[in-house]
Amino acid sequence: MADDTDDDAVELEARLAAQDTFEPPESFVEQANVADDGIYDEFAEDWPDCWEDAAALVDWDEPYDTVLDDSNPPFFEWFTGGSLNASYNCLDRHVENGAKNRAAIQWEGELGEERTYTYQDLYREVNAFAAGLRDLGVEADDVVTLYMPMIPELPIAMLACARIGAPHSVVFAGFSANALATRMNAADSEYLVTCDGYYRRGDALNHKGKADEGLRGVDHDVETVVVDRLGDELTHFLGDHAHDYGELVDRHEGTHVEPVSRDAEDMLFLMYTSGTTGEPKGVKHTTGGYLSYAAWTTQNVLDVKPEDTYWCAADIGWITGHSYIVYGPLALGTTTVMYEGTPDYPERDRLWELVEKYRVDQLYTAPTAIRSFMKWGTEYPNRHDLSSLRLLGTVGEPINPRAWKWYYKHIGNEDCPVVDTWWQTETGGMMITTLPGVGDMKPGSAGPPLPGIGAEVVDVAGDPVDEGNAGYLTVNKPWPGMLRTLYKNDERFIDEYWREYSDVDSDDPDDWTYFPEDGAKIDDDGYITVLGRVDDVINVSGHRLGTMEIESAIVGVEGVAEAAVVGADHDVKGEAVHAYVITEDDATPGDALRERIIQGVEDAIGPIARPESVVFTPELPKTRSGKIMRRLLVDVANGDDLGDTSTLRNPDVVEDIQAAVDAGD
Ligand code: WT7
Repeated sequence: MADDTDDDAVELEARLAAQDTFEPPESFVEQANVADDGIYDEFAEDWPDCWEDAAALVDWDEPYDTVLDDSNPPFFEWFTGGSLNASYNCLDRHVENGAKNRAAIQWEGELGEERTYTYQDLYREVNAFAAGLRDLGVEADDVVTLYMPMIPELPIAMLACARIGAPHSVVFAGFSANALATRMNAADSEYLVTCDGYYRRGDALNHKGKADEGLRGVDHDVETVVVDRLGDELTHFLGDHAHDYGELVDRHEGTHVEPVSRDAEDMLFLMYTSGTTGEPKGVKHTTGGYLSYAAWTTQNVLDVKPEDTYWCAADIGWITGHSYIVYGPLALGTTTVMYEGTPDYPERDRLWELVEKYRVDQLYTAPTAIRSFMKWGTEYPNRHDLSSLRLLGTVGEPINPRAWKWYYKHIGNEDCPVVDTWWQTETGGMMITTLPGVGDMKPGSAGPPLPGIGAEVVDVAGDPVDEGNAGYLTVNKPWPGMLRTLYKNDERFIDEYWREYSDVDSDDPDDWTYFPEDGAKIDDDGYITVLGRVDDVINVSGHRLGTMEIESAIVGVEGVAEAAVVGADHDVKGEAVHAYVITEDDATPGDALRERIIQGVEDAIGPIARPESVVFTPELPKTRSGKIMRRLLVDVANGDDLGDTSTLRNPDVVEDIQAAVDAGD
C-alpha cells in the first residue's frame, strides 16, 4: 500500500507539478451557473446596482428603495427601506413553491445514524421551536446564544431565532466554558440553547457539563434549552431555568409562527472572532445584505442548484458554516449535508463514504483537512465512487499547490474545478476566488476579486503595488455581506478595520478602505495570492486564534510570570501554537507546570488553542522599546536562521531560548 501511494505521488509530481494553470473542465462549463466572463465588466459598469442580482435571490416583504446608502461611511447600509425574514426565505417559500418534499438537511451522526429533514419537516420544527422560544420570553432583538455541536437542532435553532427576529450568537461547541461565558456576557445574552452531549471518535462527550460551568460565569440570569442528543447514553438534569427542547417542540407541534418582518439592516446574527487584543470581537451581520450575498456566492461560486446535494464539511460554529451550510444553501432551496463527527471515524474514508452514499455534487472543505487526507494516502478515497462530484472548494487558509493538485486529481478526478475562496468572518461571504465556469485556476492563488469586489494589494502608503509584488490586502468598496460594526463598539470597528487605510475624518465613501489584516501578492494577471495574517492572529487548521487571548490564559496559570505566543509552520494544521514562558522565581519549570499551562489554555479557550510546545525561558526577546520581538520566536519555533538580532535590548536571550528548545524544556 505504501508503495502504491509513493508511485502515485511520483506520477502526480511528474504530470501535474509543472502545470501551474488549469482550465475549467468543459463538462463543467456547459452547465455552470456563470459561464460568461462578461460578468466582471457588467458589475464594474453597474456598481453598486449590480448587487440587485443578489437581492433578487431573496423574497422581500417590502421592496428596498436604495441599493447602497453610503452617506455615513464606514457604516454602509444595503437595500435600505426593504424588509424580509431569513427563515421565510430559507423555508416557507420553498414549501410553497413545490419543494416541500425535497431534503433540506441530510444529517449523518458519527455513529452512522441518518436523519433527513425535508423542507416541510424543517419548516414544521423551526415553527414549533420558534413558538417555544417565545414561551421563554424571547422577543425580537434579544440575543440567543447557541452552544451546540453539529446536530440538526443547531440550524433549526438559528432559523427559529431568525423567524422571530432574535439575533443568534453561535459559540463553537469546541470552545471552553470560559469562552462561552465571555461571549454571553459581552452580548448580554439571556438565552442559551445547548445539548446534553455528542459523539467524538465514538465517545459520548458531556457538553451540558461545560455549558453549566460556563453559565456560572455569566453575570445575569439565563433561560436555557437543552436538546437531548444522547438519550440514555448520558443522563442530565435540567434544574431551574432549564427547559427540554423536545417538550417545547412537542407542545407547539403544528403551530405556524408568522415570520417577523425585519428591516434589511436589522441584525441577523453576531459571531465572535479573535482579534489582536484579548477580547473577542462581536462581528455584527444584518439581514438583507448578508442573506443576499450568502445566496449569490453559493449560487455563483459553488455552482449550487436546487436539485444538488451539496456538502460544506465545516462546523456551523464558524462563519463558514453559517454562510455555506445554513443560509446560502437553504436560501437557494438545495439539499445541504451535515456531518456530526470527525473525518477519520470510524475510518479514514468517512468523508468519501458519505460523498458516495449521498451522491454529493459539491464538496467545500479546508486545506488542513486536505493535507490530512494527503498524508493518509489515496487508498481511502480510492475505496469509493466519487463520480458524483462536480465542484471542489477550499477555505480558511492558503492552500499549497501540492495539496491543491492532490485534491484536484485524487478527489476531483481532474473533472472538477477547485475554487480557493478567500474571505473572513467579517466579510460574510467569499471575496476572492475564481468563478468556476469562467476563470483559469492557479493552484496556490485564490484568484481575482469576485465581480463587484474592490480587493487590491497596496503598499504601506495605500498605493497599489506593481504586479508581481507583495503588500497588504485591502478592499476599497463596500459589499452587501460586510460586517456592519462590532457589537456595541463602533469605535473599535473603525480602529480595527478602517483607520489604517482610510481618511477617517472624511464623509466621502471613496476615502474609506477596509483592511482585513492579511498580506498578499498580486500576480501579473491580477490574481491574488493571500499570504496570511499580518496581525498577531494565528491560523490553526483554518481557525483564528488571538495570541493575546492565549497569552492571557497562560499568565493566569499559577507560577507563570510572563508569556509570549507565536504561530509556527505545521504540516497539517498550517500553523501551530508555540508558547515561551517565564516562570515566577519560586515556581519550577518542568512537565508538571507545562501540563497546567496546556490545561489552562484548554480551559480558557478550548483544545484547538492547545500549545504544541511550551518552552521555559529566563527572558523574552524584546526591542529597545520593550516590545516582544515575535518574529524571532517564530524563527526559533520553525528552526530557521535567526537573522538580525541587533535591535534587541537583550541579544543574549536568543541563545538561552535556543538552548532551552534544544534541551527539550
Ligand atoms: C482569515 C479569516 C472564511 C471562513 C474561514 C475563516 C484566512 C481564509 C483563505 C484563503 C488564504 C485564507 C485569512 C483570513 N483565509 N480563507 N482561501 N486563502 N487565507 O474565517 O476565522 O474569519 O479567518 O483566514 O487570513 O483573514 P476567519
